[in-house]
Amino acid sequence: MTVAKESSLRSTLPGAYYTSPAMYEIEKEQIFARSWICIGRGDALEDAGHVLTAEVAGESILVVRDRSEQLHAYFNVCRHRGTRLCTSASDAVGSTIRCPYHGWTYGLDGRLLAAPNLKEMPDLEKALYGLHPVALASWGGYLWVCLDESAGPLAGQPDSQLDAQLVQRLGSLDVMAAYGLEDLAVARTITYDVAANWKALVENFTECYHCPTIHPELTTAVPEFASGYGSISGGRWHGAELGQEMAGFSRSGRATRPPLPGLTGGAERLFYGVILLPNVFLILVPDHVAFFRIEPVSAGETRVTCDWLFERAALADASFDPGDAVELLDITNRQDFSACERCQLGMGSRTFRDGGVLVPSEHLIADFYSYLARALGLPDEEPWPVAPDGLRN
Ligand code: FES
Ligand SMILES: [Fe+2]
Repeated sequence: MTVAKESSLRSTLPGAYYTSPAMYEIEKEQIFARSWICIGRGDALEDAGHVLTAEVAGESILVVRDRSEQLHAYFNVCRHRGTRLCTSASDAVGSTIRCPYHGWTYGLDGRLLAAPNLKEMPDLEKALYGLHPVALASWGGYLWVCLDESAGPLAGQPDSQLDAQLVQRLGSLDVMAAYGLEDLAVARTITYDVAANWKALVENFTECYHCPTIHPELTTAVPEFASGYGSISGGRWHGAELGQEMAGFSRSGRATRPPLPGLTGGAERLFYGVILLPNVFLILVPDHVAFFRIEPVSAGETRVTCDWLFERAALADASFDPGDAVELLDITNRQDFSACERCQLGMGSRTFRDGGVLVPSEHLIADFYSYLARALGLPDEEPWPVAPDGLRN
């Protein structure tokens, strides 16, 4: 959609960006194979030999903990003839990883240790046939992998993927650090299969224009959102003090837990929404954190795994019940994802070929378009070009 320069409106992406399988393949290569991608919580791998598998940019990746507690990530591919080594999402392999096809056996450090009839292959240099490694990092208690060996660090430097986004959105790293994410524990996890493009979910999380229409429970909890301007997710300091009548971010409005111990100076009364592109959303509230992991499945399908994390000590209390907190956000999530699915249905129309418009309270979405343009090597200006290769609805 082309809009006049002085207009209050800005253009969305053309429809094919959300619907084209070819566009999705381009994004897999240019974004998901080149960025750090969150694949799950690290404490899922407690013991030596525990394995986690995940799909990243169409590749199956396995992460395993070795006997010295080190974590390693590898392509989940046997060096003999390519068999997928581990097929379940989580597994325990013991002290080695043995290919189920011909029995090539790898150490947890990835080295090829043994193969049947090795004596007949004197020229097979075992050192050359270890599992292909993948870069692995941990942040906030979550595991992140990156298929691109030339990518910069995940965190710890001003221009790293996470630090740059956190500082831009929260003003400093200290705001995030106060929540002590790595020390929290998961009390509840819900997985949502959403029939919408992953970018539609990012855009929805970035604006609150829809809040008064579809989120009656959320706008009761955080009255500022009722205006449609209290951007839930632009990643900025929202300044949305919880309403006087709501003591906690929960369906009942009650605060049944104290604020997280690191929260001081007013943060114990604030709500933040943060997007860590390309595949994490965070909601930070006084007594818990919700961590969303976004997994694109196809052009029109996205899987979202949402963890509700609380203070470890709170979970240990026999009376601990996260139900009130989970209920409010779960209702909100279902409203959001249902809206994204309806939006997806229309974005494939020929009438949406050139896209739609962003109203002023949605203009932060254009920052996401700039990120996409940089990642895809497209001009960062409106009107956005039709998708690469002239893809059209
Ligand atoms: S493919 Fe793995 S041992 Fe043959
Ligand atoms: Fe929403």
